[in-house]
Amino acid sequence: MIKIIDCGSQLTQNIARRIRELDVLTEIVPFHTKPEDIKTKNLEGIIISGGQFSVYDEESPLYSKDILNLDVPVLGICYGQQSIAHLLGGKVTPTKNREYGETNVLLSRENQLFKNISDSEFKVWMSHGDIVQEVPEGFDVLARTSNGHIASIKKDNIYAVQFHPEVDHTEHGREILNNFLNICRAERTWNPERDYERLAEETEEKVAGRIGVGGISGGVDSSAASVFIDSRVGRDYHPIFVDNGLLRLNEAEEVRKNFSSFSLKSLDSFNLNINYVDASERFLTKLKGITDPDKKREIIGHEFIRVFEEEARKIEGATYLVQGTLYPDVIESVPIYGSSSKIKRHHNVGGLPEDMGLELIEPFRNMFKDEVRRIAENKLGLPKEVVWRHPFPGPGLAIRIIGEVTHEKLDLLRKADYIFTNELKERDLYYKISQAFAVLINAQSVGVMGDEGTYQGIIGLRAVTTNDFMTSDWYDFKKTDLTAIANRITNEVKGVNRVVYDISQKPPATIEWE
Ligand code: XMP
Repeated sequence: MIKIIDCGSQLTQNIARRIRELDVLTEIVPFHTKPEDIKTKNLEGIIISGGQFSVYDEESPLYSKDILNLDVPVLGICYGQQSIAHLLGGKVTPTKNREYGETNVLLSRENQLFKNISDSEFKVWMSHGDIVQEVPEGFDVLARTSNGHIASIKKDNIYAVQFHPEVDHTEHGREILNNFLNICRAERTWNPERDYERLAEETEEKVAGRIGVGGISGGVDSSAASVFIDSRVGRDYHPIFVDNGLLRLNEAEEVRKNFSSFSLKSLDSFNLNINYVDASERFLTKLKGITDPDKKREIIGHEFIRVFEEEARKIEGATYLVQGTLYPDVIESVPIYGSSSKIKRHHNVGGLPEDMGLELIEPFRNMFKDEVRRIAENKLGLPKEVVWRHPFPGPGLAIRIIGEVTHEKLDLLRKADYIFTNELKERDLYYKISQAFAVLINAQSVGVMGDEGTYQGIIGLRAVTTNDFMTSDWYDFKKTDLTAIANRITNEVKGVNRVVYDISQKPPATIEWE
């Protein structure tokens, strides 16, 4: 097990995912975790994450120096390097030439950390204001940037790099992390599918013979969790599907089709005991006149809890609640200032109140989405349409209608979104894109249809590729594809005369518009 000391970087989760991709179990812990709690029996190495603070900031996440002395190799990344240097008596200073984005690094010394990297100079991704000006006593400089700044240092089993090996833009990033795992002699035994057997046994013990409820949305997380629990307890498990009126066209129907007995042959075996609740009017009434996205999220979140509670109470004898919580949800809920939790306004954990008096069962709370997808596909046998379905936000179309949500706008957006998604599937593009959707912009524009001038609505199309949903790039469509999609939308959706394509990356934009 490799422990990652989270000093608040948005990229901390990327480190964890990369390490797990290299088959090593990893866990993220907040920077203030006590050294004795970090030093567990299975600890093989420590990575200290980046973070946005300077070591001199008052609120800088300075961990205990003893963490560097736990007799396992340590790798500091970015702020990790600066804090190691600072704690061990080196000198860290602000730099005049801040390095953001791509920089070249030149290796100055052979070392295990850079083993098997044939280039002595390669591109790395940087994001920092401070640099290590003087290394602490006994440390060697392993690499410098093309600006001459110290890019990597080492002493005994303490290593550090100024750049981010965990991002795709850093050449040889995976090799560097892999080399560090070799230095740690980390056991390469992490495999979510293998872990599944253990998980199944553990869960079986908890839920066997008991009645329970859970939320199911049709997305891969909650579907996998529900099918998993159902495979243990069958009809004693009652997944609840809440139609909040903010779903995509035919969505409720599709979930019904995917998970009930009258569906496709291959899905017969799931035959989940789903309770469907149509609460759409309740949600839409509450959203009347609301334009602020945070307020929309809050209202939808609260109403969901209320509806869910009412339904759950109808299931007599229920003693547990199943949620498709994933590891990123758990980490985002760890209160550490400066962490990504402040940037993301949404979170799924804690969505349902603890005082429901139900034991929370979250089978996949230690896994990333790609790991759950592996389990869903290979162990639970969920269909491709569910496993690889694009994510859909809890607040649904409400945050894709800029401004007030009304029945008319929902109808219009549903049609546009359906055409977009359908065309992507027909054109074999859907599974090449991580997430795609239509947005109804809160504006009108002039146009001409036939002989008449028009003044109508605008649909924005968003399609992104991403590995982690923390950063993303827009999908580069062929002109013919985009044109055909836009033409269908303007021709078939009454009230729309213009379609625009969103080419912003995340950051600086987000994936959703609200
Ligand atoms: P952003 O817009 O933050 O989105 O770049 C990242 C991912 O999160 C989804 N998302 C949400 N999911 N409730 C959710 O359950 C929300 O309020 C919410 N907002 C964004 C978004 O669709 C994308 O996959």
